[in-house]
Amino acid sequence: MKYQGKDYTALWREGDQIRFIDQRRLPFTFEVYTARTVDDIAFAIKDMIVRGAPAIGAAAAYGMAVNSHDPQRAAQLLEATRPTAHDLFYAVRYMSHALNKGEDPFIAADQYVEELLRRCQKIGENGAQLVSDGTRILTHCNAGALATVDHGTALAVLREAHRQDKKMYVYADETRPRLQGLLTAWELFHEGIPFSLIADNAAGYYMQQGDIDFVIVGADRIAKNGDVANKIGTYEKAIVAHHNEIPFYVAAPENTFDPALLQGTQIAIEERFGNEIREVHGARIMPDWVPVKNPAFDVTPHHLISGYITENGIRKTWQ
Ligand code: MRU
Repeated sequence: MKYQGKDYTALWREGDQIRFIDQRRLPFTFEVYTARTVDDIAFAIKDMIVRGAPAIGAAAAYGMAVNSHDPQRAAQLLEATRPTAHDLFYAVRYMSHALNKGEDPFIAADQYVEELLRRCQKIGENGAQLVSDGTRILTHCNAGALATVDHGTALAVLREAHRQDKKMYVYADETRPRLQGLLTAWELFHEGIPFSLIADNAAGYYMQQGDIDFVIVGADRIAKNGDVANKIGTYEKAIVAHHNEIPFYVAAPENTFDPALLQGTQIAIEERFGNEIREVHGARIMPDWVPVKNPAFDVTPHHLISGYITENGIRKTWQ
């Protein structure tokens, strides 16, 4: 991804240190967080210095690498950070397998990331056919380079369409409570893709007005029947899109698919800290005594999904 004329990835390795763009600070401040231990990496995932299922998976792969002398402790620590992102568990399994085979831990983690980037690039190439000149697209959360190390999933499609010189317009939901829409705005701005950031509550209005040609989102976990867990609010957008006969696409690498779960109701939904609701981007809007609830994800049933864009093409159904 581009920032001030330079190419960046959401995280990268320098020797045995892992560096992350600190996503808690964007879009105002560009800071780099350095992790040396698996504890540092687990903190980065839990505190959302790094976020987005594929990037969390990549961080976990490096977490296993930096603690390869005790993979069991690393796996335990990492798996306790964020329960919904399937990539995290997939990456821990991938690395446990590589370590059991005696592979070099850092090279195995690098390979994990290279494979992820290849998948994301293919997602972009496969999905770009959905965009033509004048297409208006709604996004929710951030499924961009920040969420996947580079390219993105949903945003990979838009990046590739932009690279092919297709003229499009993006409506980016701000995505309370954590405001990942600001990260999408940051990426689109630096990529030169025209967009507006909108309040979550405005998405239905624009769909009803006929201003949206399709909706595209990422995924944290996909059950066997095609139900998709993604950022809280995704389900609502899918219902409004369905009601207005607007196609609703999910872009994700195939490893987001969890073959152990028959349907979305079995997906564990992360409940996050109450202060994420009591604050907006670090600023207090409510005192501690206000009771809040804060589920980080919801599940969109498969019948609301028009297609799944993966590294292998666009599938109408998941099964
Ligand atoms: O809580 P987050 O920011 O990690 O949630 C991210 C999302 O919901 C993304 O849409 C999903 O992980 C896919 S990212 C390619």
